[in-house]
Amino acid sequence: MHLPKAELHLHIEGTLEPELAFALAERNGVTLPYATTEELRAAYQFDDLQSFLDLYYALMAVLRTEDDFAELADAYLARAAAQGVRHAEIFFDPQAHTARGVPIGTVIEGLGRALERSEETHGVSTQLILCFLRDLSAESALGTLDAAKPYLHRISAVGLDSAEVGHPPAKFREVYEAATALGLRKVAHAGEEGPPEYIREALDILGVERVDHGLRCMEDPELVARLVADRVPLTLCPLSNVRLRTVDKLTDHPLPAMLAAGLHCTVNSDDPAYFGGYAGDNFDAVRDALALDPEQLRTLARNSFEAAFLDHDEERRARYLAEVEAYAFD
Ligand code: ADE
Ligand code: ZN
Repeated sequence: MHLPKAELHLHIEGTLEPELAFALAERNGVTLPYATTEELRAAYQFDDLQSFLDLYYALMAVLRTEDDFAELADAYLARAAAQGVRHAEIFFDPQAHTARGVPIGTVIEGLGRALERSEETHGVSTQLILCFLRDLSAESALGTLDAAKPYLHRISAVGLDSAEVGHPPAKFREVYEAATALGLRKVAHAGEEGPPEYIREALDILGVERVDHGLRCMEDPELVARLVADRVPLTLCPLSNVRLRTVDKLTDHPLPAMLAAGLHCTVNSDDPAYFGGYAGDNFDAVRDALALDPEQLRTLARNSFEAAFLDHDEERRARYLAEVEAYAFD
C-alpha cells in the first residue's frame, strides 16, 4: 500500500535479504552455513523471538565494511520508498557488530552515508536510533554509548532490543539517564514477549517516549488507560508478531481492539527480510486480515507522523500529514 507513512520500528540488520547476504558473504570471504538463498529462506521458521535472534545475529557475519552498511541501508530505503514510506527512524545494534570486531564508526558512518543522501535518492527522510542489546550487561550498554559519542550528530535516540524476558528495562536505568543528558530521545522494546510490567518500567524508569511493540499492554486495563491518556505511541509490527508466534494468526491480532481502545498505534515492519513484508505489506496484511477500513488505515498513517521525532521540523511533519489526508484509496 502506497499510503504515505513513517516507519518507526525497523531494525536495519533485519532488512538483510538472502540475496544481499550471499553477495556480501562472497565479497568478504565469509562462509554461510547455507548453500543457496532458497535454503536460507527455508530456515525462516521461528518458534519465538530467540529462535529468530539466533539466525539474525549469525547472518550479520557478512556485514564488515562501511560500504556493506551503506548498501544494506540503501537497499532498505529503496524498498521502503516503493511502499509509501516518507520518513524512517531506523534502529541499529552496534554491539552485535563491535562484538565481531567491526568498529562502531564503520557501522555508523556506513549507515550515515546512505541516510544522508536518502531524501535526494529515495524521497525518504531518516533518523538513526542506537539500540542497546538487553541480554548484554548494563556496563556494555554504557560502554557503547560512550563509544558512540564522536558520532552523536548522526543519532537522534536510543532504544532497547533483543531477548526481552529476564531483561527488564530497569537494568538500563543508568544508560538511559546518560542518554538523556546527551540530549537523545528514548524508546524501548517492551511488552513483545515480556509482561505489561516491563512497559510500565520503560515509561517510569527509562522515561521512553514511545513503546516498541507494547502488545501485551492489552492484559492490563489500567496500563491501557494510562497509555491512552498520555497518548504514548506504540510501534506495532503485525507480521513480526505472527512469525514470532506472539499472536497465532493475523486474524487474531489485537490491533482493532487497540485502536478501539484509543491507543496511539502505528504499523511497522520490524525485520522485513525475515518476516515476509515491508511497511506497505504490513498495512496490506492488516487491511485484509482485520478488515480495516480506509479511515482506520489513514489513522494509522497519521499516527506514524504524529509519533515521529520531527519536533525540530514541524513544517515537514505538517507536509507529511497533508499527504496522508490527500491520499486517495482505490
Ligand atoms: N531485534 C531485532 N528484531 C527484534 C524484535 N522483534 N524484538 C527484539 N529485538 C529485536
Ligand atoms: Zn523490533
